[in-house]
Amino acid sequence: MQERVRDLRRAFDADLAAAGDAPAVAGLRARWLGRKDGLLTVLLRDLRDVPPAERAGAGQAVNALKQHVEQALEEAAAAQASSPVTASLVPLEMSLPGRRLPPGAPHPLAQVRARIEATFLAMGFALEVGPEVESDRYNFTALNIPPHHPARDAQDTFYVEGGLLLRTHTSPVQIRTMERQRPPIRIVAIGKVFRRDPFDATHSPMFHQVEGLVVAEGIAFSHLKGTLERFCRQVLREDVRLRLRPSYFPFVEPGAEYDVSCIFCTGTGCGRCKGSGWIELGGAGMVHPAVFEQVGIDPERYTGFAFGLGIERIAMLTLGIDDIRLFFENDLRFLGQFPG
Ligand code: FA5
Repeated sequence: MQERVRDLRRAFDADLAAAGDAPAVAGLRARWLGRKDGLLTVLLRDLRDVPPAERAGAGQAVNALKQHVEQALEEAAAAQASSPVTASLVPLEMSLPGRRLPPGAPHPLAQVRARIEATFLAMGFALEVGPEVESDRYNFTALNIPPHHPARDAQDTFYVEGGLLLRTHTSPVQIRTMERQRPPIRIVAIGKVFRRDPFDATHSPMFHQVEGLVVAEGIAFSHLKGTLERFCRQVLREDVRLRLRPSYFPFVEPGAEYDVSCIFCTGTGCGRCKGSGWIELGGAGMVHPAVFEQVGIDPERYTGFAFGLGIERIAMLTLGIDDIRLFFENDLRFLGQFPG
């Protein structure tokens, strides 16, 4: 019997050393201490057959082995439970109700931007992009705004090291496109622009613009008006009217600002249009010959038009929002109202 106990102890120690995880330790417990045919349970039962003279010694040996097995299994189970891998496993609680995922949607500005893009794409425009950190040449000089030109005052910006600046409008993409591509050109560029403007209900120091540029032979002011009118009717309301007022931008001649009839009162005058019946959308005009010369396009042969508009202003109109700051505060109570 003593020999059998020694053999079993060796076998148990080998089994335990091979048990690498919690289920293996649990299996070992069943194999050794199982009530009916656990190896130790059988051993204890077999004590009955040991001759009475040897029974006391054999009983002690078997009990010592039992203690050893129980203690070793307990220690192994505790070690498994506190191992980093096992401890990080959260037991699956099948009876818990699932966690609700709130439905997401693109940001309202992204929704309006996508609509504007789709409208211009359907009108045959290609999409262009330009960098948000620009050189003085692309943002100003090549657009006929030399240093010390008073037009720079209206577009003060944030300057970066190395003579670079955060672009104040998307018009630099006009220059980049015309440098790369010969007419005919028909592009829109959409993106972020930056100005040293106050952060109030209608201004933001960072906002988004859409730039349009069309250059070819025979392009006239009427093409500009027709394009803007069609765009406004598709994005705002089928019955809006367009108004162009003479204005000054150094890179266009003639230049204009354009307004649409107020989409809230349809032109009779209300609080939204400050009683005027019109809402200002952006600037536009015919590409200035001095700009064509900057990019090596012959102004005697080609003409073109360009326009710019602010996406936030369009979004405020179409979504009925009266404070531009709401777009940038990331308040879910606001964003949740635009499920897309
Ligand atoms: C320009 O930026 C010209 N580049 C537009 C242009 C393009 C004219 C091509 C001619 C030819 P302006 O500074 O007016 O123009 O800005 C255009 C539009 O941007 C404004 O009508 C307005 O809708 C929007 N905008 C201007 N400043 C802000 C601001 N701080 N916050 C939000 N939107 C603004």
